Amino acid sequence: MDSGERVTFPEGFRWGAATASYQIEGAWNEDGKGESIWDRFSHTPGRVKHGDTGDFACDSYHRADEDVAILRELGLGSYRFSIAWPRIQPTGRGRALQKGLDYYRRLVDALLAAGIRPFPTLYHWDLPQSLEDAGGWPNRDTASRFADYAETMVEALGDRVSDWIVFNEPNIFTTLGYLIGIHAPGRRDPAAFLRATHTVSLAQGEAVRAMRAMRPGLRIGSAFNMSPCEPATGSAADRAAAERWHAFLNTWFLEPALRGRYPEAFPQGVPLAQMGVEPRDLERVRAPLDFIGINLYMRTVVRAAPEDVVGLGAAPVGAGGDEGPRTEFGWEVWPDSLYDMVMRVTRDYERPVIEITENGCAYGDAPDEDGLVRDDRRIDYYRGYLRALGRAIRDGADVRGYHAWSLLDNFEWAEGFSQRFGLVWVDFDTGERTIKESARWYARVAAAGAVDAED
Ligand code: FCB
Repeated sequence: MDSGERVTFPEGFRWGAATASYQIEGAWNEDGKGESIWDRFSHTPGRVKHGDTGDFACDSYHRADEDVAILRELGLGSYRFSIAWPRIQPTGRGRALQKGLDYYRRLVDALLAAGIRPFPTLYHWDLPQSLEDAGGWPNRDTASRFADYAETMVEALGDRVSDWIVFNEPNIFTTLGYLIGIHAPGRRDPAAFLRATHTVSLAQGEAVRAMRAMRPGLRIGSAFNMSPCEPATGSAADRAAAERWHAFLNTWFLEPALRGRYPEAFPQGVPLAQMGVEPRDLERVRAPLDFIGINLYMRTVVRAAPEDVVGLGAAPVGAGGDEGPRTEFGWEVWPDSLYDMVMRVTRDYERPVIEITENGCAYGDAPDEDGLVRDDRRIDYYRGYLRALGRAIRDGADVRGYHAWSLLDNFEWAEGFSQRFGLVWVDFDTGERTIKESARWYARVAAAGAVDAED
């Protein structure tokens, strides 16, 4: 529970913000960039709300300096961005494109010059379309293609970037992309989904080994979408279902990496054969991560569901619980979810190093007649979650940094531009940026290293 006292963060704690390539860059076909599955998906009528695409988005491909200047003005110390694989290898294989490498090198150098840690993610969902045409993540070969790409990036930037994120939310892009079909590549195929999860684990293991072989000193992690799972009722069936959903949602990609095994998410046992697991694979999926990245938005209430598609016997009841207020996306605001999740990971994995790689909320508040964006609900959201995080650190969690999602209003996947998560307002016609009041508030928190109960 929140005591109402000032919550302070440790010396050296990193205050940051996050974005992802497809959501902000635009320039979808410039300088030789290849087509990604998100280009294909958003260009297909009916897939994204209002037919929105990332063709222009926030135009960050041409405005990266402006983005860095904003981070600097806010006094933030870490910028999590992602690298668009098809800017580097247009077809997902072969020699790296110099112009793609140059873009990210310039961004990294600008961040370093501003005293901001560059914190790149190698894969935030924009798979080269050619690799999808060859089978995508359900195809084992994609793991080796990914490891080659990871090696290429470390070769290009490893002298100046020391902290890396391999995957963003492997559970989300495999589930929404291959099982439910509401994200790219839009497939609905339980068998393909199961194989995709295993290829991604292989890719994580192979990439981490390749990166370390090239530069042993790097700090490497992945950003996992996590949410504490609570049973809908006290029944034994719901409680068991909540634990299985926890295994599926929170640790399906973490257990293979850290312990060389899949967690018990399925009541009938892990479907290794359907996943395409081959002899010795459980060694190959090992990836001793230096930190666990946590993306967290809400809690999850789970009930037993005998009829679910992949055979977990469990299903979430809604977007969070039904006690807290909701963001415009309909997600429940529940600050304790961050405390609960961080503490569970701390207990279950022997107090690992944790980075909060995403946390934030969607509210559409726009510039008023004075040109100010008075987004008080976003301030309340951040205040609650940050205070919960501070309590987790006080109670023993080793959390090193926090990244607000997002620096900018941006292309919110299937929702297009209808959900605004930014600390900075973006005019999607011109690319013009306006710093919101929540960003000013966050800048003060970062400067003080503390969050008060009200301010
Ligand atoms: C996460 C994604 C991120 C953003 C937020 C709102 O699942 O990693 O790109 O869309 O949700």
